[in-house]
Amino acid sequence: MKKTLLLLSAFTLILVACGGSTDSTDTSATTVTSTPEVPAKTGGELLIAKADCVGCHHKENKLIGPAFQAIAEKYPSNEENINLLADKIINGGKGVWGTVPMTPHAKITQEDAKQMVTYILSLKK
Ligand code: HEC
Repeated sequence: MKKTLLLLSAFTLILVACGGSTDSTDTSATTVTSTPEVPAKTGGELLIAKADCVGCHHKENKLIGPAFQAIAEKYPSNEENINLLADKIINGGKGVWGTVPMTPHAKITQEDAKQMVTYILSLKK
């Protein structure tokens, strides 16, 4: 009985190790971690991490789009701005920060977009 258990757990370990290395970009494939995502991310921050925002936006630095902190400096966190910016995420926007436009995100719901904006505007220093 004990031997079977041991074998079973060894087998599970191998399975986890293999599964973990296929879909992860992590190069340290030998370390077995059951939770690859940092669990601290919630709400808008998590939604942003899962969307394509990070390809153009960084928390503190300007990339293609303005830094999230710069956006937070510009807009006070209130209902009006949250609605305005949520609409811009969904429909796209241009001309506020420069000549480069932001692509529309038609698949993001108003609710999710508002959560993202709430997080972005909370980054004000
Ligand atoms: C293709 C690159 C790109 C992607 C992807 C992108 N953005 Fe942007 N974003 C921009 C650019 C460029 C601007 C500045 C637009 C302007 O000047 O009006 C911008 C502006 C913004 C603004 C400020 C809008 C304003 O009018 O001040 C917010 C908020 C924002 N982005 C959030 C997001 C979120 C959330 C996502 C992910 C769902 C996202 N962006 C994805 C490029 C991008």
